Amino acid sequence: MSNSTNGSATRPVIEVDDVVHSYKGRRALDHVSFKVMPQSLHGFVGPNGAGKTTSLKIICTLLRPQFGIVKVFGHDVVDEQKLVRRKIGFMPDHFSTYRQMTVYEYLDFFAAAYGLPFAQRTQVIDEVLALTDMEKRKNDLISGLSRGMQQRTSLARVLVNDPELLLLDEPASGLDPRARIELMEILKALRSMGKTIFISSHILPELAELCDSVTIIDKGKVMYSGSMSGLQTSSNEYPTWRVTLDSEVEGIAERIMGLPGIISVDQVEGRPDYRVAYDWTVTDRNSLLRGILDLGAPITAFTEDKRHLNDAFMDLTTKGVK
Ligand SMILES: Nc1ncnc2c1ncn2[C@@H]1O[C@H](COP(=O)(O)OP(=O)(O)OP(=O)(O)O)[C@@H](O)[C@H]1O
Ligand SMILES: [Mg+2]
Repeated sequence: MSNSTNGSATRPVIEVDDVVHSYKGRRALDHVSFKVMPQSLHGFVGPNGAGKTTSLKIICTLLRPQFGIVKVFGHDVVDEQKLVRRKIGFMPDHFSTYRQMTVYEYLDFFAAAYGLPFAQRTQVIDEVLALTDMEKRKNDLISGLSRGMQQRTSLARVLVNDPELLLLDEPASGLDPRARIELMEILKALRSMGKTIFISSHILPELAELCDSVTIIDKGKVMYSGSMSGLQTSSNEYPTWRVTLDSEVEGIAERIMGLPGIISVDQVEGRPDYRVAYDWTVTDRNSLLRGILDLGAPITAFTEDKRHLNDAFMDLTTKGVK
């Protein structure tokens, strides 16, 4: 019924409706509702203890919601558990056992568990090893891999099943900046292959570039759910761009301040580098850049300052304090 191609084009991949969940009487999820649309990269952001892992476990059928309804591809996670499991891949926030297996053995073990015939397994494993750039490590023991490589192995394991929906619980935690960027690149590639990706993190700016939509959760309550751009404009924070000049220009901060819609101009640590916040109802980044160039400033870099996203996140996640 819900498998019709017409229906699946617009129907959300994940529908969480009014979910409540408590552990020993302590409420971890408090009437949580949100949707994730097909082929989106949706961030799930919240501080420690917000309820991210609990929500993910419910979505991936490992935990039954005590109240409310959760559907994945239109299938109820309680009544149609098997149908849901077939279409999803869950990457938990820790690499549990299997440490004395090689990467290849580990992937082969899961491929077999997913019911892939022996003849197909080698090809599928080679594909996921290539996608996660782990070919050279396939004969290494998992226990000897760095954290980043274990994360990649874990992601490769999730991909063995060729899931339509990836549920990733803090896959970037503990990774160095290079490994983070590489992981983000892999996720972008997976999205372009048509997969829907739901990824949790406790750092909003980390997901800002990657995600097109986001749900922010704090103390078991959804504080925001919608597009990434909507978050930036709905928060009290102004969009901020970082303007780097080739060299110091006398009085430039005051002159930038005189452009239309400028809220503030802050110089960064005595360098020819400025954070410029503007009112998005008055101006936009193109007009801002043009305005600064017209002032004759020798711009060497013009990049979005992600700090304001962090401020937006802090703003949203402190409102929930009871
Ligand atoms: N198995 C459990 N038993 C008791 N309480 C739990 C259990 N799992 C989670 N909780 C509690 O539920 C709340 C939400 O936890 P959850 O793990 O879902 O948060 P999280 O957003 O994933 O946090 P983190 O960023 O630390 O991973 C917390 O208060 C936590 O202490
Ligand atoms: Mg967690």
